[in-house]
Amino acid sequence: MSKSQLSAVVLAAGQGTRMKSDRAKVLHALSGEPLYSFPVRLAFELGASPVALVVGHQAESVEADARARFPAEPLRFALQAEQLGTGHAVMQAMSVLEGATGHVLILYGDVPLLTRASIDPLFETARRTGAALVALTMLLDDAGAYGRIVRDAHGRIRKIVEAKDATPEQRQLREANAGIYLIEAAFLVDALSKLKNDNAQREYYLTDLVEMASNTETGAEAVVAADRDDVLGVNTRAELAGLGRILMSRIRKRWMDEGVTLVDPDSTYISPLAQIGRDTIIEPNVCLRGRARIGRDVHLDVGSIVSDAEIGDAAAVLPYSLVENAVVQRGARVGPFARLRPGADVGPGAHVGNFVELKNTRLGPNAKANHLAYLGDASVGADSNVGAGTITCNYDGVGKYRTEIGERVFIGSNSTLVAPLAIGDSAYVAAGSTITRDVPGDSLTFGRAQQTDKLGRASELRDRAKVRAAQEKAKKAKSAKTNGIEADTKSAKSSR
Ligand code: UD1
Ligand code: MG
Repeated sequence: MSKSQLSAVVLAAGQGTRMKSDRAKVLHALSGEPLYSFPVRLAFELGASPVALVVGHQAESVEADARARFPAEPLRFALQAEQLGTGHAVMQAMSVLEGATGHVLILYGDVPLLTRASIDPLFETARRTGAALVALTMLLDDAGAYGRIVRDAHGRIRKIVEAKDATPEQRQLREANAGIYLIEAAFLVDALSKLKNDNAQREYYLTDLVEMASNTETGAEAVVAADRDDVLGVNTRAELAGLGRILMSRIRKRWMDEGVTLVDPDSTYISPLAQIGRDTIIEPNVCLRGRARIGRDVHLDVGSIVSDAEIGDAAAVLPYSLVENAVVQRGARVGPFARLRPGADVGPGAHVGNFVELKNTRLGPNAKANHLAYLGDASVGADSNVGAGTITCNYDGVGKYRTEIGERVFIGSNSTLVAPLAIGDSAYVAAGSTITRDVPGDSLTFGRAQQTDKLGRASELRDRAKVRAAQEKAKKAKSAKTNGIEADTKSAKSSR
């Protein structure tokens, strides 16, 4: 079957009562990404088009999140106002899948760990057998509340019986339904129109399609999931945490397999959307969030957080630095204790040192801001040096203004640059300056009060200070004595 004839349905209408949450279950996050986004992403990865997301509980919030997260992908929404069962949910999706040919992949919005290793065999089996439906199953010691897989004497799947509808013998069956299916589109449309809700839960069971399929000429097939963890669902906060651990250990292993050194894997958090180049070294307690993109040979030191940011090859992020929505180019060095806010762009070989904050600011190649500075809405040209304590005053309480610093500029320590402002190439701003108008290129600019030297006056000043201190001391002693007499008089009175 060609993948171009694949569409998908992701069921995400359920409330998730056991989460005890005001938020729909599928919006709870695993490693920073909402649960439903995992099967949606997998479906797109498999080439499904379109993907129908069935929403119900908090439909607007789920839909808004999904639209923002998958703006360009062929994602459609189907509303299931009342949750009348998994079969009913898929019925709602059919209107947006209209005209679908080939196959429809059904996934659950609360089963996030599914991988190609478990899903690909569904496609292989469908191709090999031509079955109208292929179900994904799992082998459990106790199948609990799951639907039971009933096979015939030849080992072929016949039907799925829900736990609530099962006979005591059926309940003993160890093979359970994972709830994930690959179904021929034509069969699906026809079978859904025949679904009934005459069962223990008065629901339209999607599982009933299995028996219908097995009664067709091509029949039904079932495939056991390659890894039990792949089909785990989230129902409680504890399960959410448990799946988070599994996901994290898979992600860590994946990157180590790709040639990334994790000094302490257990303390390294890596978003499922992160990318890391080989020979990069990640020290303990580093957190890569969202779409962090880390190049090759990068050193991410202890305690740093990189969120949706790009770190170029051979760059270094020293301990306890925060890099968010920013770019650190090849060979640049950031930190320790640096903060790069959205729009920061640290050029190749540039340095940003401790307690330096950058926002919407570009540092050119080899530029440096090594200590204690705030650079906001600014650009700093190549090879310029921004001294300790420099502040761009980009905000007057109402509007924001830019500071443009040229190339090879030297900004002396503790300078205050009041924007809007331009400082020409090779200019030199003296330490402690407050600069309020443009500085021409190659100018040596002072923006501070002039120094005066009063010769010999230091010892005079010290003598005066000594006299003053002695007077002050004498005054204190006198007042303590007076208070002491008063206190004596009082205690004498009260003892009388
Ligand atoms: C279903 C299967 C069961 C299988 C189990 C695996 C049926 C009838 N039973 O059980 O055989 O072992 O999954 O987890 O299909 N949903 C909707 N709308 C609805 C009902 C459900 O969108 O009306 C969504 C839920 O949000 C969830 C998924 O479908 O993501 C499964 O629903 P859930 O109620 O958890 O599954 P069961 O019916 O218990
Ligand atoms: Mg149910």
